[in-house]
Amino acid sequence: MNKKFYITTPIYYINDVPHIGHGYASIATDVIARYHRKQGEEVFFLTGTDEHGAKIAEAAAKLDETPKEFVDKLDLKFRAAWKLLNISNDEYIRTTDSLHGEIVSKLVEKLVERGFVEKRSYEGLYCVGCEKYMKESELVNGLCPDHLKKPVIQSEENYFFKLSAFADQLKSKIESDEIMIRPESKKHEILGKINLGLDDISISRAHVEWGIPFPGDPEQTIYVWIDALINYYSATKMYNREEFWPADLHIVGKDIFWFHAVIWSAVLLALDLPVYKKLFVHGYFTVDGQKMSKTIGNVIKPEDLVAKYGTDAVRYYVLSAFPFGADGDVSLEKMNQAYLKLANEIGNLFQRTIAMINKYEIKVSSSVIPAQAGIQANSDGSPGTSLENTVGPEDDNLQYIDIKPEMAELQLMEALRKIMLFAEDQNKAIAATQPWALAKEGKNEELASFLAKTHSKLIVLADALVPFMPETAEKMKDQLATLKLEPLFPRIEE
Ligand code: MSP
Repeated sequence: MNKKFYITTPIYYINDVPHIGHGYASIATDVIARYHRKQGEEVFFLTGTDEHGAKIAEAAAKLDETPKEFVDKLDLKFRAAWKLLNISNDEYIRTTDSLHGEIVSKLVEKLVERGFVEKRSYEGLYCVGCEKYMKESELVNGLCPDHLKKPVIQSEENYFFKLSAFADQLKSKIESDEIMIRPESKKHEILGKINLGLDDISISRAHVEWGIPFPGDPEQTIYVWIDALINYYSATKMYNREEFWPADLHIVGKDIFWFHAVIWSAVLLALDLPVYKKLFVHGYFTVDGQKMSKTIGNVIKPEDLVAKYGTDAVRYYVLSAFPFGADGDVSLEKMNQAYLKLANEIGNLFQRTIAMINKYEIKVSSSVIPAQAGIQANSDGSPGTSLENTVGPEDDNLQYIDIKPEMAELQLMEALRKIMLFAEDQNKAIAATQPWALAKEGKNEELASFLAKTHSKLIVLADALVPFMPETAEKMKDQLATLKLEPLFPRIEE
């Protein structure tokens, strides 16, 4: 049996079209999913959309559409964006799917049965943008710091989940990494918050119609975050992947980290279900130093970038721009520079090498590309585990670029840097060896051996790029097999 690996993106609010911030989360998750598939694991990669709640209902009302009409329209936009970015999700869940609704409703009923839910009256400040009640202390000048809007006072009878009862359990499980939260700084941040004490949370809404009815009380709907978090679990039932629970890795942005680290974990504990294994929290990116916003007019849409640079260059750029887990800044200028780097280092390397192989009629040993370089097959032919004793880029007998340590820590930028360094090394080797000079001097054996070696190194390079730039890696392998040249990163027409 192959190792199973269940990985998820957050499910996106479809109150607006997808932007590159959403794209970032999906690309990163996709790279990790593809990497695990390449290691021979059986991967279940889930993404989807979060379609209930006040935020979506308000967006639909603005357009005079029913929420259902509205989400159906936006659903197509999200699917199109993921296709364009070559996201290889195995399933795509929508919280408006009735099967999901049934599962959520059953689980909430179970929370009630187990005594973890209580009806109480409540008055608080609610931020619709965050879809949560806020504490006075969280506001900045009376506004929600994320949405720069004044929360509205809401007073209603709600069902409360006894989150406070789970503080000790959460603390010890997070401390011991039984629930692993990374980067470490985020683990400490959440432990600090739990130490301040956990308040019970309202898990129903009396004034939000667009949601799953609360079991036993049709006047209320289930709080959209409870509905949404359960997607990770309901999907395993809906798509017959029950053996994949608990999830191995949830990827989330720092803005929704609390909901996953604390609320989701506590709900699972309350249901007596195994908790997910790891939560990785990535940063936020700004555009030219500013928060992406419609009002500023700096929203970058994935389709605009892809139209200009192609899918793989966009994938490369967002992951190489700053460390996964940190905040960073993106700009069109830097996207352009990243594209030029790809063209100069990788595009050029392929161009020169294959042109010389053709010109000097070099016989290249193997045009067969191992499907999973770096993996030693088991005796029964099934893919086994990666070779442990790998070699560095400077080694002539290199079979693959060892990005295993980086990938184990989800250091995607560092992994890409290692791969890029390898490409740079090959360019340097060409400059130092000067194959054209060898040809002139009639040193044919030396020439043939150098170019054959470079050819095999390009196979290694292509293979390492598979999870990051899947289409380009395929093109590279094709070119190395057929020796037919086609620019990998064509010049951009302005
Ligand atoms: N619907 C909730 C998630 C529910 S998961 C059970 C939600 N959706 S969202 O569409 O607002 O955000 C989805 C993800 O996109 C979040 O992880 C968020 O951090 C990420 N990003 C949105 N804008 C971003 C940037 N500007 N930069 C990086 N990530 C960004 O929250």
